[in-house]
Amino acid sequence: MTAATAALRPTTAAIDLAALRHNLFQVRRLAGSRDVIAVVKADAYGHGAVAISRALTAEGVTRFGVALVEEARALREAGIRGELLVLGGFTADQASEMIDLGLTATVFHLAHAAALSEAARRAGRVVPVHAKIDTGMGRLGFQVDEAPEAIANLARLAGLRLDGVMTHFADADLADPAFAREQMARFDRVIAVLAARGIAVGLRHAANSAAVMAVSRDGVAGLEAALYDAVRPGIMLYGCRPGPSVGPAVDLRPVLSLTTRIGLLKRVPSGTPISYGRTFVTRRPSLIAILPIGYADGYPRALSNVGAVVVRGRRAPVTGRVCMDLTMADVTDVPGVSEGDDVAVIGTQGDTSISAEDAAAAAGTIAYELLCGIGPRVPRRYLDREA
Ligand SMILES: Cc1ncc(COP(=O)(O)O)c(C=O)c1O
Repeated sequence: MTAATAALRPTTAAIDLAALRHNLFQVRRLAGSRDVIAVVKADAYGHGAVAISRALTAEGVTRFGVALVEEARALREAGIRGELLVLGGFTADQASEMIDLGLTATVFHLAHAAALSEAARRAGRVVPVHAKIDTGMGRLGFQVDEAPEAIANLARLAGLRLDGVMTHFADADLADPAFAREQMARFDRVIAVLAARGIAVGLRHAANSAAVMAVSRDGVAGLEAALYDAVRPGIMLYGCRPGPSVGPAVDLRPVLSLTTRIGLLKRVPSGTPISYGRTFVTRRPSLIAILPIGYADGYPRALSNVGAVVVRGRRAPVTGRVCMDLTMADVTDVPGVSEGDDVAVIGTQGDTSISAEDAAAAAGTIAYELLCGIGPRVPRRYLDREA
């Protein structure tokens, strides 16, 4: 999107960098002196990875987590010089690019590590690697029983330097931390076996936002030990909770708000069908606002007839199906409503808010998916007022 077209689009996502700094402060308050690996994958959960990484760099963050080599490349091209840990791994044919870009590898596949070692040797470079251990997520990582041997082999590969070991929690957002503790016990056992073999594992890290915020649980034994040497928060940096029961006492500020303007107001009689499938039919003479936002912008179609937006400080229900580019809302009960009025799709007007968590719950999903889904055709506007 060019600057000219962006300026014309009434649908924009405002990104509040002061709120980001506030949330980083909360991470640091809970994590103490531990390192922060800021998770900026998926374009920083839809917030814009370059701008977010720049803002965090200015606050002293030196480590970032991305999912893909391509994401790391975009950050390097934008001048981000911090450590970029590629959480999703790499394929053998990406080994040279990993080295050229000066990336830090997450390793859970010995054949890929061997390719990286070979590329490092050819380039005369030493590549930092973190070994990932699957302690119960059932996703990436060496299985616990094979991990000590695999990591010992990894540590012997020429051109690689074992800088860290990591694992990932499956359900640290639950009120009951039993399985997270079991995962920690498995992680600790692998580290102990490696230590007994004289292998220094470097930075140990596991904590996502849920584990960081669990430290604050009032009256419940938290997961302090899960903080290890570094934490890997994502969603809490963006001001959302990883789950409804997590960290009620942690003061987070939403970083993103999604706004649009009423494009057209239609006064229609009772009995008028609205949108595809005629799933909504007015039951009274109604005023319907047509909003220039749709599922191609990342406003979920699942919000058809169940979502709401805020106009003039009042909630207005989404009526009928969300379309690709347009959404309709019933604004009959909004006094003084006019074409061109600002609409908070995610955000606050006056005393009325719709959070990403609320909208996601109404759509049957999570704030993560909603935020990541806000599409590239929605211009991001960066605000930097002081907190
Ligand atoms: C490996 C890894 N670490 C950390 C995170 C950050 O998680 P959260 O956004 O819940 O803090 C993620 C996100 O999915 C991840 O995949």
